[in-house]
Amino acid sequence: MVILSEWLAAQLDKESAEPAYRQLLQLMQQAILAGRLAPGTKLPSSRTLAGDLGVARNTVLHVYDQLSAEGYVISTTGSGTYVADTRPDSVAVSTPTPAAAPADEDDDANGASPRGDMSMRGQRLIDEAGVSARQWGAFMPGVPDVAEFPARTWSRLQARLWKSANHGLLTYAPGGGYRPLRRALSDYLRVARSVRCTPDQIIITTGIHQSIDLAVRLLADVGDRAWVEEPCYWGARSVLQSSGLKLAPIPVDDEGLNPREQDLRDPPRIALVTPSHQYPLGMVMSLARRRTLLEYARQHKVWIIEDDYDSEFRYGSRPLASLQGLDESDRVIYVGSLGKLLFPGLRIGYMVVPERLAATFRTGVAELYREGQLMQQAVLAEFIMDGYLTSHVRRMRTLYGERRQLLIDAVTRHFGDALPVMGDEAGLHFVLGLPDHTDDRAVAAAAYDAGVIVRPLAAYYSVSQDRKGLLTGYACVPHEEIAPAFATLAQVIEEHAFASPKKLRRAG
Ligand SMILES: Cc1ncc(COP(=O)(O)O)c(C=O)c1O
Repeated sequence: MVILSEWLAAQLDKESAEPAYRQLLQLMQQAILAGRLAPGTKLPSSRTLAGDLGVARNTVLHVYDQLSAEGYVISTTGSGTYVADTRPDSVAVSTPTPAAAPADEDDDANGASPRGDMSMRGQRLIDEAGVSARQWGAFMPGVPDVAEFPARTWSRLQARLWKSANHGLLTYAPGGGYRPLRRALSDYLRVARSVRCTPDQIIITTGIHQSIDLAVRLLADVGDRAWVEEPCYWGARSVLQSSGLKLAPIPVDDEGLNPREQDLRDPPRIALVTPSHQYPLGMVMSLARRRTLLEYARQHKVWIIEDDYDSEFRYGSRPLASLQGLDESDRVIYVGSLGKLLFPGLRIGYMVVPERLAATFRTGVAELYREGQLMQQAVLAEFIMDGYLTSHVRRMRTLYGERRQLLIDAVTRHFGDALPVMGDEAGLHFVLGLPDHTDDRAVAAAAYDAGVIVRPLAAYYSVSQDRKGLLTGYACVPHEEIAPAFATLAQVIEEHAFASPKKLRRAG
């Protein structure tokens, strides 16, 4: 006991800002965990220890109470306080699990399983992760101009709603999301995207990632095949892959998804497509291909996930109708997001599911993710119902259209027609083609170092990359910053793609 008091007295720092109670508690916990105080050891009385340490007796009493509440010690009235035996159960620890046997093959030198910390799918997710540390600046693809977001309107609506906050808005949100938002979205989607739906068919999620995750968990099993477009959005690929699906990359051409004979012979469980604006190349799936895909899905019971992520921003023509609107057999799960229409950090998306699956999805979303954020959903519902969404999208379409043109002009000024601009009819980015011999990953990395963000087309292919290019976003770049930022990018491209850069330069 003398030793304990002496050790504690030596460790206790009376000058420290940390109260004596906390210091003493931590020191005794450490002493018990490290075995300095063996199981069964009787602790000194609170009066003795307080006297030895020069602290108030109440401090020691509080420490003993807390140690007792956390199971470090056992206090018996009349007989004192003893260190509890909390050593790991040797039987439980040494029992081999079926996966660990036979021990001599599976154990490495440290006695740990060579399988390591990660699952195979987890490791793959991390190895192939595409997420960028920077999410803002020229020419970040896929990011809208959040500086143009009508924040005052939003905060006014939000302030009003908080005044009437009640349990209906502040608890979990089972039931697929805030009902008025689902009604507002179904009206919006019917008109803007020709989606056929009732509010019941709408499920509110945190975005397209979560919508795909939910659809896959409810509709597919581990090991099922999923068609993905080649190239496709890396984020969607990661969600499918980490859910245990086997991915089958399907080529795309000018008319969109173009499955080969061998692909058709082996029907997938899921087909993930971006028919209104192929991501990342930008083509539109033709009507003939849409009808073929829907018929194939009907015959082979394939679930089509239609990712309609940014098709409101179409320049030159009206936005195109959704694939879901053509579906007579209820094989399409339509997913969309407010991330590109309003701001990415909002994290509100929606899915439209066939009527017969609506109740299943409502339960699924609540069971898996415990929905919430009803207050945000309520603000969004008012925002849509008061007409702000439509007017914001209209204003942004004009703004982004101008920026897109400024960037195309800059490309032409620097490179003439040496570098093709692809997929510029819609969305928030286009693909700037590079000569075949160019390493687009190297160009993107060098551009990043020079302060310009672009994504290499290589990041979107999983099997064979048949063209080189850079995803170049214009939506979040103020008009006046486009030309100077492109001059920086152009210099990087010239260094990597062309032997004699000067010859390519045009006037300006
Ligand atoms: C094709 C595509 N789908 C989905 C997303 C992400 O959607 P969300 O933010 O709603 O999860 C992106 C983001 O860039 C995308 O490009």
